[in-house]
Amino acid sequence: MSALVIVGTQWGDEGKGKITNFYASRANMVVRFQGGANAGHTVNVAGRKIVFHLLPSGVSVPNAKCIIGPGVVLDPIALVEEIEYVRSNGIEVGDNLLIDIGAHLVMPYHKAVEAAEEQARGGDAIGTTHRGIGPTYVDRYSREGLTCGDLAAFDRFQEKLSAIVSRKNDVLTKLYGAEPVDLGTITEQMKAVAEVLVPYLSDTPALIRSAIASGDNVLFEGAQGALLDIGFGTYPFVTSSNTTAAGVAPGTGVPPTWIGEVAGVAKAYTTRVGAGPFPTEATSEQASLICERGAEVGATTGRPRRCGWLDIVALRYSLALSGIERIIITKLDVLDTLPVIPVCVAYTLDGVNIDTFPRDIDALRRVQPVYEELPGWESDTSGARTSAELPEKALAYLKRIEELSGARVAVASVGADSDAIVEFEQLL
Ligand code: IMO
Ligand code: MG
Repeated sequence: MSALVIVGTQWGDEGKGKITNFYASRANMVVRFQGGANAGHTVNVAGRKIVFHLLPSGVSVPNAKCIIGPGVVLDPIALVEEIEYVRSNGIEVGDNLLIDIGAHLVMPYHKAVEAAEEQARGGDAIGTTHRGIGPTYVDRYSREGLTCGDLAAFDRFQEKLSAIVSRKNDVLTKLYGAEPVDLGTITEQMKAVAEVLVPYLSDTPALIRSAIASGDNVLFEGAQGALLDIGFGTYPFVTSSNTTAAGVAPGTGVPPTWIGEVAGVAKAYTTRVGAGPFPTEATSEQASLICERGAEVGATTGRPRRCGWLDIVALRYSLALSGIERIIITKLDVLDTLPVIPVCVAYTLDGVNIDTFPRDIDALRRVQPVYEELPGWESDTSGARTSAELPEKALAYLKRIEELSGARVAVASVGADSDAIVEFEQLL
């Protein structure tokens, strides 16, 4: 059995899309298991930059079956647009895509409710992507959700929708003083998307299990990162799903004991979009230089990403949560010009040295990073494809990450192109 889980170990945007795409050419199946169109997975396909939000990044690889699993919250309008967008870029979407009947639908009223909630939070706003993610998971857990499978029996869907919309409009108008949504418009929109999406519907858990049981290589593509996990992230500045490897079982119907290797993706530095604590956030000129060199702009919302240094304390926490022994370091080339690279190896909290990530958000806000300064290599790594082609100091940087994190670096990514990879160890 071979199942490889790829998860983010920071606050998202670690380069999971590119890495999934890299492994997808060796996989028979690529499965998304949580999150929704809040994800923005950028992949360079044949020289073109493609951003996936809902489609698994493996869709650009011929022969890989791509599955949107039951743990995903699926915006059907966004998905139809995304299918058209990737097709217009020469990517085939047909028999290679399956959508699980249990995936919950992100509806227009979820986005309206989210906008009203974020506005009501004022200065405490989470800074969500406004993709309706939180309210959709809320409805799932309060058992008021509509699933992709519901689209297949449209008369019944319409009845449920009408009852739900009237309750949502009460919330929107009476609680938030916001505009109501229009049932007729939503019904028409759903009718149109159902025509496109119903043919892709499938009962996927058994298919995924039998693929794994028959020895196929199955890749699970995580979205967001461990520090955005609903249970273990920097709550409440998190997303509403389980972003660690633990999310695979409930998000796909695959038993936890079948999950093989978990690879954690980490940028060679750190970024965060949206609000919330970020101990190694840098304000210096060097940080803005990194943001520029790394093109750190949100792939989903276009917001500039907050940038800072690699945080080993946070990384160790994320590795522990997902049982990660192999990491993939991305965007190493972004650091090419720096003479010195700070890496956070511990924190001080109220004057005391600590080496664990505080789960209490107020404590996390107070920590001060303790940096170790590593020598930069000050040369271009973007052409390296083998370990021998990397400068010694870049290898030393990776080695130090291994020592500090306790995990092995399996792959380093040195550029946006799909072949800009140095593979030290084969995971799939
Ligand atoms: P990928 O898969 C980075 C952040 C948002 C916000 C918080 C909650 O590309 O790594 P949400 O809309 O999920 O309710 O927003 O989570 N966020 C991400 N940040 N990368 C992502 O996805 C993200 N998805 C959500 O900015 O702070
Ligand atoms: Mg992203």
